[in-house]
Amino acid sequence: MNIPPDLARTHGPVALVTGASSGIGAAFAEELAALGFDLAVAARRGDRLAALGARLAAAHGTQVTPITVDLARIEAPRELLAATSALDIGLVVSNAGFGLKGPHAANDAAAMTDMLMVNCHVPLQLAHGFIPRLRARRAAGRGAGFIMTASVEGLIGCPYSAAYSASKAHVIALGEALWGELSPEGIDVLTLCPGATESEAAAKQGVDPALLTHQLPARDVVRATLAHLGEGPGFIGSDHYRALFEAMLARPRREALRAMAAAMKPGV
Ligand SMILES: NC(=O)c1ccc[n+]([C@@H]2O[C@H](COP(=O)([O-])OP(=O)(O)OC[C@H]3O[C@@H](n4cnc5c(N)ncnc54)[C@H](OP(=O)(O)O)[C@@H]3O)[C@@H](O)[C@H]2O)c1
Repeated sequence: MNIPPDLARTHGPVALVTGASSGIGAAFAEELAALGFDLAVAARRGDRLAALGARLAAAHGTQVTPITVDLARIEAPRELLAATSALDIGLVVSNAGFGLKGPHAANDAAAMTDMLMVNCHVPLQLAHGFIPRLRARRAAGRGAGFIMTASVEGLIGCPYSAAYSASKAHVIALGEALWGELSPEGIDVLTLCPGATESEAAAKQGVDPALLTHQLPARDVVRATLAHLGEGPGFIGSDHYRALFEAMLARPRREALRAMAAAMKPGV
């Protein structure tokens, strides 16, 4: 399956990408710029966003609007909607997120609250704010879509990643429900469940990236996702992890959870 060559014409001129300062979000920004989109990019590390903008302007003539914002703050989605109100955005990539690994009781309570804000509150409120804007585009015969980055860990409760796994189950449910509401109107909704993907995420969670097997480059995951934009509601961005989780979900639930617990237990 290929990326529609006219995606920037149908869903542009501007795409919003949250979490574009590294990893999968940066890869979305790079690919969308190469396809001809202008961009609004959001994250906390404004220096990274500025460097990305300079690089994409030089490579593709992309106009990049950087939005330096801490998405863990409750007002952040409203600020993001206000900061993009003058931009003609047809594709919203709600990708920012982070995880916490380890026994649930050992996780920092405040960090878990921040994670719920970034992983759950932001996509929910961004979708709420952008639906009228995307509907207006459809009424004018133009393309419109959401991509939401969830995780394969949202497909089943993952022991030793309980809060993150629950946050990504929220994204999957949100994306599926919105696909049910919006796809009849011609608004694309695709929830991406990446498997292990090269990014800063593993190191930030104290996981040695070298120990991760079957990791894909973020660019490959992003290209496959864009090719599946019209094929919602969900997309698992890795053949290996698709087969693994399909087999896991076919097992009796208790058996699957015991196997997951054994595999995910710290120090194993
Ligand atoms: N890599 C994987 O194997 C994998 C697997 C499944 C799902 N995912 C999901 O993929 C998405 C992207 O993660 P990644 O793997 O690319 O990791 P990453 O390299 O760590 O990127 C995470 C992005 O989210 C942004 N972000 C995090 N907290 C934020 C906050 N409070 N405010 C604003 N932005 C924030 C970061 O920007 P700043 O730090 O500059 O703010 C960064 O741009 C996440 O939703 C993650 O859960 C990744």
